[in-house]
Order: sequence, then structure tokens, then C-alpha cells
Amino acid sequence: MVAGGADMMRTQYYTATSLDGFIATEDDGLDWLFPLGDPGDTGFPAFIAEVGALAMGSATYAWIVRNAATVASESGSPWPYTQPAWVFTRRALPAVPGADVRFVAGDVRPVHAAMRAAAGDRNVWIVGGGDLAGQFFDAGLLDELIVQVGSVTLGRGKPLFPRRVLSPTLRLVSVRQLGPGMAELRYVIDAGGATHGGGAGR
Ligand SMILES: NC(=O)c1ccc[n+]([C@@H]2O[C@H](COP(=O)([O-])OP(=O)(O)OC[C@H]3O[C@@H](n4cnc5c(N)ncnc54)[C@H](OP(=O)(O)O)[C@@H]3O)[C@@H](O)[C@H]2O)c1
Repeated sequence: MVAGGADMMRTQYYTATSLDGFIATEDDGLDWLFPLGDPGDTGFPAFIAEVGALAMGSATYAWIVRNAATVASESGSPWPYTQPAWVFTRRALPAVPGADVRFVAGDVRPVHAAMRAAAGDRNVWIVGGGDLAGQFFDAGLLDELIVQVGSVTLGRGKPLFPRRVLSPTLRLVSVRQLGPGMAELRYVIDAGGATHGGGAGR
């Protein structure tokens, strides 16, 4: 990852997925993910070091809140991020004490502008879920898709990226094997892709 000024800053959707394109089971389970590899052995430490702001939907936030004890045992804090975070929801959700979180709703564009301002020359991370990443894509704001594809299938669940991206296609720029359990694929989203975004927008 290159951080060489505001023009180098990227908005990235970085996530793990099953081979058949689900980021969680239909009941928001992630137990399938953890046996596949240790995040410390992936590109994640280098990735997160370049993140200056992050956004997630309420189901992703709720997973962290529900699993606060596990998160704390692994990261040393019930909220694992030091960067400012934006949580999209139309409901009143409890805050995690000490977490730098702001709750927002609706159009992603003004939120992205605030995230960019907060991130400085670092990157903006769309943590998930897939439709929220799709909303940034629809607005022409998503630059990269970085997926760690696990060697499992789930059959059904929460979708990786519920959009139709046909022309221009995503541009595959790197492929890395992470042991037998995962492959990391990195795609650049070329300008113009958003005009072909389909699926349920908000
Ligand atoms: N495999 C991985 O690495 C990975 C990565 C990230 C997430 N996950 C998991 O994947 C699942 C994702 O769940 P999900 O697909 O349901 O997505 P999500 O984006 O986490 O949550 C969706 C919810 O966010 C709120 N929302 C989204 N866009 C909004 C907008 N523009 N304005 C206001 N509210 C908005 C809505 O909820 P309200 O009802 O609150 O308004 C919506 O139902 C979670 O279980 C998460 O833990 C896995």
C-alpha cells in the first residue's frame, strides 16, 4: 500500500468471503472464518496500518458488540479500531464505551467526504457488509476490492457484493495464496464501473 499524499488515498472494501460469495452466514455467523487462517499472517496488519477512517453497517457493528469479550481478548479492547469509525444505521444503537464511533444514515457521499477529511493521506476502509460497499460503489467512490477468499462454501448467507459489475470489469491486480485456507485477490475498480451498478440501492 502506498501512502504518498491525498491523491494516493484509496477507498477500499477489504473483507473475507467464502468461495461462493458470502461474508457471513444468514444469521451473521463468522465461525467458519476463523479456522481458515490467522489474520496476522495475511496482508491485514499492513492494510490496517494505512487505514485512516472506516465505515460499517449496523449488522457488522452488532457482531463486534455481541462478541466484545472475544474481540477484547484478541485486540486488547472491546472496540478493535483506533481509527474514527462511521456506523450506518437508522436505529438508535448503543455506543461502545471509549470507541470513536459516529452513527449516520442515508447518502454515503457526505459521509465519505467526512471520512476522507479524517483519514488525511491514509485510506478509507469499508468494512462491510456487501450492500454498504455497493452503496459506495454506486456513488463512484470505491477504488479497490480486496477479498480473502476462504476455502469453504456456505450455500447461503450475507452477500459479498450484491451488485452486477460487467463493463468495465473489475481489474485483477494481485493474487496471493495464504496457505491452503485462503487466497487474497485484489481488484481495482476503474472509473465508470458505477454506471453499471445494479441491485438494491438505498
Ligand atoms: N467476512 C468478513 O470479513 C466480514 C466483514 C464484514 C462484515 N462481516 C459480517 O457480515 C455481516 C454483514 O451483514 P449485512 O450484510 O447485513 O450488512 P451491514 O452493512 O453490516 O448491515 C446492514 C444494515 O446496516 C444499515 N444500513 C446500511 N446502509 C445504510 C444506510 N445507507 N443508511 C442507514 N442504515 C444503513 C441497515 O440497518 P438498520 O436497520 O440499522 O438501519 C442495514 O440493514 C455481518 O454479520 C458482519 O459481521 C463479515
